[in-house]
Amino acid sequence: MTFKGFLSVCAALAFSGAAAATDAVYQQVCSVCHAAGVAGAPKVGDTKKWAPLIAEGQVILTAHGYVGIRGMPAKGGKPDLALKDFAGALVPWCTW
Ligand code: HEC
Repeated sequence: MTFKGFLSVCAALAFSGAAAATDAVYQQVCSVCHAAGVAGAPKVGDTKKWAPLIAEGQVILTAHGYVGIRGMPAKGGKPDLALKDFAGALVPWCTW
């Protein structure tokens, strides 16, 4: 996918408020690490840890997480996770 394509996915998400499937993705994939802070993962709701990350902006943060960064596995370690589902799972964690 091109970077332009990536941006448009994020923009589409931001405006559609896609929330329905995303909670399930979080429960199944992300919560394993992000609920308890496994391996240094910033916990959901830990505003101190998230604030500087959120400051990078939604697109950058989503991109970093999707491709993987340091202890964060690409796509949350689920190779068939679609970008829109990944991005959607992230939306409720943060107030952009
Ligand atoms: C195997 C454990 C694990 C799973 C599963 C996981 N994460 Fe992470 N995640 C991490 C760790 C560890 C970090 C901290 C990386 C660091 O900064 O060293 C992280 C960091 C992040 C970041 C911040 C990236 C940045 O720019 O610093 C985002 C966003 C993120 N995760 C989103 C998600 C989403 C969304 C999911 C579910 C689809 C998910 N993660 C699943 C371990 C995990």
